[in-house]
Amino acid sequence: MSRISLSKLREMKVAGEKIAILTAYDASFSHVLDQAGVDVILVGDSLGMVVQGQESTLPVTVDDMVYHTRNVVRGSESVFVIADMPFMSYANPEQAISNAARLMAEGGAHMVKLEGGAVVCETLKQLADRGVAVCAHLGLLPQSVHRLGGYRVQGKKESEAATLIEDAKALQQAGADMLVLECVPADLAKQITAAVDMPVIGIGAGADCDGQVLVLYDMLGITPGKRPRFTHDFLADTGAIPAAIAKYVQDVKSGAFPSPEQQY
Ligand code: KIV
Repeated sequence: MSRISLSKLREMKVAGEKIAILTAYDASFSHVLDQAGVDVILVGDSLGMVVQGQESTLPVTVDDMVYHTRNVVRGSESVFVIADMPFMSYANPEQAISNAARLMAEGGAHMVKLEGGAVVCETLKQLADRGVAVCAHLGLLPQSVHRLGGYRVQGKKESEAATLIEDAKALQQAGADMLVLECVPADLAKQITAAVDMPVIGIGAGADCDGQVLVLYDMLGITPGKRPRFTHDFLADTGAIPAAIAKYVQDVKSGAFPSPEQQY
């Protein structure tokens, strides 16, 4: 079976077919997601929190990401795999190039993801010019949690919203192939999705993005603590992990998830 390609994901945006993405960090879950019809697996640096039990994503290393990405790629046949570039692994273009090369050559990732707006455009361009598929990430940036003062909705002020729209356009211009928008008001996410040609994937960004992503352990209801408004416990609905994943895919594709109550 061949894997979903970036061109297929672009065609899905044009056709209005929603893209269903979940995170995974190991071969067994990767296999379940692959079989349940998930289009893309994100090997998120959220693994620092949900797998390693850290307080944030900051301690995650490139070695950690290579290890987990390799396992996810091994466990799957048809999904497209994105690997997060961890905190400070892309602080300058040279570092970004050698770390992205590791994630792709050793880990087998098909795309890398990095957080930030205008400030990462030059780095992103250098990666794209060398043939690396890159996913940008705007809105709530977990790697900047201390600067942001917590995990909060971004882009509520008019000036912040305007900056996010400009950043999205600049990232696309620099060569971004996809964009994750995290925790932004649904109206703003809708505007950004319409303003760029690349697929826009929301998490806490409303139903009008081209696709959705959730942290796997959140949507299975096994993350300790308070659940953010934008997640949903699909395991509680279905009673079995494969059925929970299949229901997520179905609800993303039909537009049933996220509901108005699950957005800002
Ligand atoms: O690390 C991660 O899981 C992510 C998602 C929250 C989008 O970046």
